[in-house]
Amino acid sequence: MRAVTWHGRRDVRVDTVPDPVIADPEDVIVQITSTGLCGSDLHLYEVMGPFLSEGDILGHEPMGVVAAKGAAVTALDTGDRVVVPFNVSCGTCWMCEQGLHSQCETTQNREQGMGASLFGYTALYGQVPGGQAEFLRVPFGNRLPIKVPAGPPDDRFVFLSDVLPTAWQVVEYADPPRGGSLVVLGLGPIGDMACRVARHRGIETVIGIDLVPERLTRAAQRGVTTIDLRDSGKDTVDAVRAMTHGRGADAVVDAVGMEAHGAPFGKVAQRLVGFLPDALAAPLMRTAGVDRLAAFQLALALVRRGGTISLSGVYGGMADPIPMLQLFDKQVQLRMGQANVHRWVPDILPLLTDDDPLGTEGFATHRVPLEDAPDAYAMFQEKRDGAVKVVFDPAMNG
Ligand SMILES: NC(=O)c1ccc[n+]([C@@H]2O[C@H](COP(=O)([O-])OP(=O)(O)OC[C@H]3O[C@@H](n4cnc5c(N)ncnc54)[C@H](O)[C@@H]3O)[C@@H](O)[C@H]2O)c1
Ligand SMILES: [Zn+2]
Ligand SMILES: [Zn+2]
Repeated sequence: MRAVTWHGRRDVRVDTVPDPVIADPEDVIVQITSTGLCGSDLHLYEVMGPFLSEGDILGHEPMGVVAAKGAAVTALDTGDRVVVPFNVSCGTCWMCEQGLHSQCETTQNREQGMGASLFGYTALYGQVPGGQAEFLRVPFGNRLPIKVPAGPPDDRFVFLSDVLPTAWQVVEYADPPRGGSLVVLGLGPIGDMACRVARHRGIETVIGIDLVPERLTRAAQRGVTTIDLRDSGKDTVDAVRAMTHGRGADAVVDAVGMEAHGAPFGKVAQRLVGFLPDALAAPLMRTAGVDRLAAFQLALALVRRGGTISLSGVYGGMADPIPMLQLFDKQVQLRMGQANVHRWVPDILPLLTDDDPLGTEGFATHRVPLEDAPDAYAMFQEKRDGAVKVVFDPAMNG
């Protein structure tokens, strides 16, 4: 089959690789019909090289049709239409029963000291082959895939794999009061969808901040008050205070993560790590000052005293100082983590109806052949051509 594979920093290719096979009676093989490109994939593309091996198959936002199933799979039949969550979670362990699927005890990566495995996401998370491919092996066939109805186009459902539950969780964790205020930092797919979820849930003041014009416009078109960081600079805090009774926002979502603009030293350190041999770079990525906390610092400045910061952006490393004094003094609550996809599916599925209140059907800006992955990764990273959300279609010809 054809699959998107990692070969080095900013080097992804589409290769012919062996088809996946059923290795366990509970496996299903899904023929992929749509598969997303995520901001998290950009971390693999740019800085996470030490944790990847050449040829690793990328991607964690797939959906498709069950092509084959193991003998123990009773919940699905071949031909069923399914979305595959980005967490590889068993659905039956203690953590899964708490709704903490990203901490699944069956797939936790204990030797790495990390949580549940993820599709297509490095040796830290199980080195599981990913879903930017023609076919995907999915374990826990009775529990993990989400069955969706035939009929509506893929775009209605594909974002259930990651974007929708991530945006839902980040707003749930932010927990702004109805009628209250929420700032969303970063208007990529996650921040954009978080704004939509917040508006849908009746949050009165939703303020979106970014520095890419098309992303700001997209959010503004859906009733979000936007601030362009390039214009507002140091006045951003004052601008938000002016809209929030002088106090700051009830809650702030950080949907930026570790490649934030505005932290030049972190960027140099990340580049340096990119040139080191893996054996030296991997421990550095975990421990040295390669973080880029710019967005987090801004979140802390924007949240009101006693408010909440909810992080969806992925962070790594340990050396950048966390401003404990300010966090403590402002009495800030901090929530974060990978999204527990299945935890939110019952809340979200009923919204993927004909009136599509979250606008899933128009959400992707680009639908392209799988063969175009190298160009699409570059376009998405450089935020060119209005690219906000790219979906690959393995059946489309390049
Ligand atoms: N927690 C989870 O389960 C989960 C799931 C999916 C994605 N993520 C993470 O969420 C983050 C966002 O994902 P995405 O797909 O939307 O990525 P993205 O890279 O498309 O979006 C990030 C946005 O932040 C903006 N930005 C950069 N610096 C900024 C700053 N200082 N202030 C405000 N905005 C700034 C960028 O212009 C961009 O639009 C990534 O870190 C990704 O890894 C987490
Ligand atoms: Zn993702
Ligand atoms: Zn589990």
